[in-house]
Amino acid sequence: MTHADTMAHIPALNGRYDIYGNIHKGLRRTQCLLLARLGANDFGNAETTEKLLADMRRLLSMASAHVKHEDTEIHAALHRRGVETGLVDEQHDDHRAAFQVLEDKIVAVETTSGAARAEAGRGLYLAMAAYIADDFAHMHEEETVLCPILWQTFSDDELLGIEMRIISALPPEENMAFTRMMLPAMNPAQRRMMVGGMQQSLPPEIFNAIVEFAIRPALTDADFQALRADIGLAA
Ligand SMILES: [Fe+2]
Repeated sequence: MTHADTMAHIPALNGRYDIYGNIHKGLRRTQCLLLARLGANDFGNAETTEKLLADMRRLLSMASAHVKHEDTEIHAALHRRGVETGLVDEQHDDHRAAFQVLEDKIVAVETTSGAARAEAGRGLYLAMAAYIADDFAHMHEEETVLCPILWQTFSDDELLGIEMRIISALPPEENMAFTRMMLPAMNPAQRRMMVGGMQQSLPPEIFNAIVEFAIRPALTDADFQALRADIGLAA
């Protein structure tokens, strides 16, 4: 199947559980923003460069955690039902190799100066663009080819169970980091569903901490106020 085929025939959700939707939106947004920053950065400016490299490393660590979650929870669950995941497994192996290349390119920027640093910055920018191109094609494959297989193989309750196992295994600070990544990339209905779900299922003190440390800082004030009104959160 070519990309043109999968672009022309995006499978409709038809009310089914969209296990990839929020996290892939978050990864796409964060990766696009980082690529744009890498392209515009003055690698002679130590302050902006240091902040950008730290944000790149944070993205690499979250992207690598995401790939692991898909392997250990989604692919493993498919294998248990006799469904092979060869192609997307290979793409995940490629991602792991790309993460190491990107880390090496970050180190190359850190350990050079002057014209060599500008060249290392260009190398990091181009490598990041190539990685994103592969990752976007891969996520497209997951959402157009693998997702319908998930819907055939599992009920929505089972898919929700898989996602809950991923979320509950995360340490709280990683959970907050993923929430901050996803929320600004999501539309109002998705925000209402995710945050409304947290509000119903978590003890109030934990939910309030998530609001202050992950939800409010991730949104513009207008978007936060709209979400608050949507889910009936007190001011
Ligand atoms: Fe994946």
